[in-house]
Amino acid sequence: MAGLLALVLCGCDQAQLDERQMSVVQTLSPIPEPVARESNRVADRADAAAFGAVLFSDAGFSKGGSHSCATCHDPARHFTDGKRVATALGEGTRNVPTIETVAWQSWFYWDGRADSGWAQARGPLLNPIEMGSTPAQVRQHVLDVHQDRFEAVFGPVPEDPEDVVALVGKALEAFERTVTPGAARFDRYVAEVRQNGSSDLLNESEARGLKRFLSDGCVNCHNGPLFTDHSFHNIGVPQVAKGGLDVGRAIGAVDVLEDPSNCLGARSDSKDCPELRYLDPSFPDWPLAFKTPSLRNLSHTAPYMHDGSIATLDGVLVFYSELPGTPLAGHRELTLEPLHLSDGQRADLIAFLKTLDAEADSGTTR
Ligand code: HEC
Ligand code: HEC
Repeated sequence: MAGLLALVLCGCDQAQLDERQMSVVQTLSPIPEPVARESNRVADRADAAAFGAVLFSDAGFSKGGSHSCATCHDPARHFTDGKRVATALGEGTRNVPTIETVAWQSWFYWDGRADSGWAQARGPLLNPIEMGSTPAQVRQHVLDVHQDRFEAVFGPVPEDPEDVVALVGKALEAFERTVTPGAARFDRYVAEVRQNGSSDLLNESEARGLKRFLSDGCVNCHNGPLFTDHSFHNIGVPQVAKGGLDVGRAIGAVDVLEDPSNCLGARSDSKDCPELRYLDPSFPDWPLAFKTPSLRNLSHTAPYMHDGSIATLDGVLVFYSELPGTPLAGHRELTLEPLHLSDGQRADLIAFLKTLDAEADSGTTR
């Protein structure tokens, strides 16, 4: 009787993982080594990464010298900016994602319209509402300020400004690949589970939240040590951004195939590009699909979703509870059902998600 009472009071039964869940948990940690980036021959060179770190916070690349990559990807906020949508020389329509997962991804941006960090970097440098530069201005700024470092990594500054933009991007990517989300308490928990078969590093509420995360289907999409399947799904977030319907991956998949800076392009260091070769831009589930974001460091990266339309983690869980509205294109992922979570169940899930926050300071590098 006393045993039963203890069980009821602590809710331990609700926190206990079954055998299958115990094995799934072990696939969620630790954060692995970066995935190779064949299209960028300097991707893992320390000199390129050090040069990229300088470029990342150099506002001199922007029109008027006002914005660097770090303006929007602020290292103190796990490389986000805390705003609903990005604003620089103009207002964008999408929320700033972190750069902490660059080393593991195949597709960049919420719609995956770039297939490497170096191809991605061309976007903000030249985008009139972000840094507003031109390829000729990028080349000139390299000659004016960075010629020595550039040449130490890449050799003579090329004549073609687009070649310079690509190489600047490759140094930026080398830097981004050294940035990691940082180890969290959850990683220590998994290490203990692996070693001892159990761990008390999660409290009751966090443990119940973890169990719910596994049993409520979150892990179907937010899986692996980065808590993302690196794919795209239409979960039907009601869109609030200006500028019309954002169809996400449906256009991103076409864009990346047409991008001259993609893995098959002239400036790529490899032609071994299986992801791109097998990409089907007409896949019927692409309309309104956005990239599954990582769930590490969520405490520092509000607001949430591709358009920053949900301000708090509780708001995200209310969304998964109710699945409001009907998507304006395609259809919501069929596996999703409203979860009807109670206040306490949402609190448990939030408590668990916060165990994924890095224990050390932001901007942890390898
Ligand atoms: C005005 C704010 C702003 C500036 C400046 C900016 N970014 Fe971004 N960045 C964004 C936004 C917004 C997105 C998402 C855009 C989208 O999905 O269409 C993004 C996406 C990214 C991504 C993709 C991350 C992912 O997981 O898909 C990377 C990498 C990145 N930026 C790196 C950079 C670099 C490098 C620079 C400097 C050359 C830079 N950004 C400058 C706002 C900015
Ligand atoms: C069908 C795949 C799928 C499932 C299942 C799923 N998610 Fe997501 N999740 C996504 C996608 C895709 C986005 C981004 C959607 C967008 O921006 O429009 C997202 C966004 C999020 C975000 C916002 C993160 C950020 O940085 O903006 C959180 C938090 C989140 N999900 C948590 C959960 C939790 C908790 C569950 C289980 C209750 C869950 N997800 C179930 C695919 C999924």
